[in-house]
Amino acid sequence: MFHFSFKGLTFDSPLLAASGTFGYGDEVADLIDINQLGGIMTKSVTLHPREGNPPPRIAETPAGMLNSIGLANPGVDSFIREILPRLSALETAVFINIAGSTLQEYVEVLDKLEKTDAFYAGYEINISCPNVKRGGMAFGIDPRTTERLTRRLRERTDKCLVMKLSPNVTRIEDIAAAAEAGGADALSAINTVVGMGIDIEKRTPLLHTVTGGLSGAAIKPIALAQVYKISRSAKLPLIGLGGISNYKDVIEFILAGADLVQIGTLNFKQPAAAVRIREELEAWCLKNNIANLHDLKGEMVSSC
Ligand SMILES: Cc1cc2nc3c(=O)[nH]c(=O)nc-3n(C[C@H](O)[C@H](O)[C@H](O)COP(=O)(O)O)c2cc1C
Repeated sequence: MFHFSFKGLTFDSPLLAASGTFGYGDEVADLIDINQLGGIMTKSVTLHPREGNPPPRIAETPAGMLNSIGLANPGVDSFIREILPRLSALETAVFINIAGSTLQEYVEVLDKLEKTDAFYAGYEINISCPNVKRGGMAFGIDPRTTERLTRRLRERTDKCLVMKLSPNVTRIEDIAAAAEAGGADALSAINTVVGMGIDIEKRTPLLHTVTGGLSGAAIKPIALAQVYKISRSAKLPLIGLGGISNYKDVIEFILAGADLVQIGTLNFKQPAAAVRIREELEAWCLKNNIANLHDLKGEMVSSC
């Protein structure tokens, strides 16, 4: 039904779990067989432990959610000690998502991970988090910084290097080109879209940080357009995400130019979504005589 390989990695399912929406995989281990996923992007790991932003840091919206978690995580040393050994035992492709406040922080986290003998597929580099004061999205809105960071990381690893792009830019294709020039192996897009909400009775913002990141069904058309723009300019493999809710959304992303996709916010409502959607994709492929869903990559017919 699906087959795609790059950088020595083989994917039999196009569905990966998006960073920050699947924990480190173990929270859902009782609910689904994780090895049925194409892969897992871990929550962002930073150099030092982070408590994240004060609450409220999650709010519901009619077609998605706002979050300002702010990269809460135990820090890379604890991640290596406590979490990485469990992840190494998985058969599915594990990508460690790294975030940092400075270029040096990204480098130090990667160096510490490279020194372990753990088994994992590679890294997803979060240069697109809208919920932190320093770093995060600041790297992903400037092509020169994106290229510099990508190059620094490229020099230090042979593992698969995926740069995760922000939709909160004017020309995402320029950032994609910068990551490509810096030596990335693949791109993922998109991270959350800057958004906010207000409680009109209390006249207070829904999030402590006032603005946060919007995710879920509401952002799918934005994500699709960004994936389409990147795929028309960059040659790298592309992992599309943003608001995927069902198998039809997955097919849309592939038609728009994605090689693989990630399921994010949907995991909170339906932890087994990726397994169910895989079955639905299989049924759709069978019905439509499609031997490999990946063959539909970029196959949108341009006039409607
Ligand atoms: C609660 C929450 C936490 C997130 N944490 C991270 C994170 O730590 N690192 C990261 O790169 N993206 C993070 N994201 C962004 C998602 O990985 C994804 O890019 C975004 O939510 C869009 O996909 P979706 O609409 O399918 O959720 C987070 C999203 C949510 C909703």
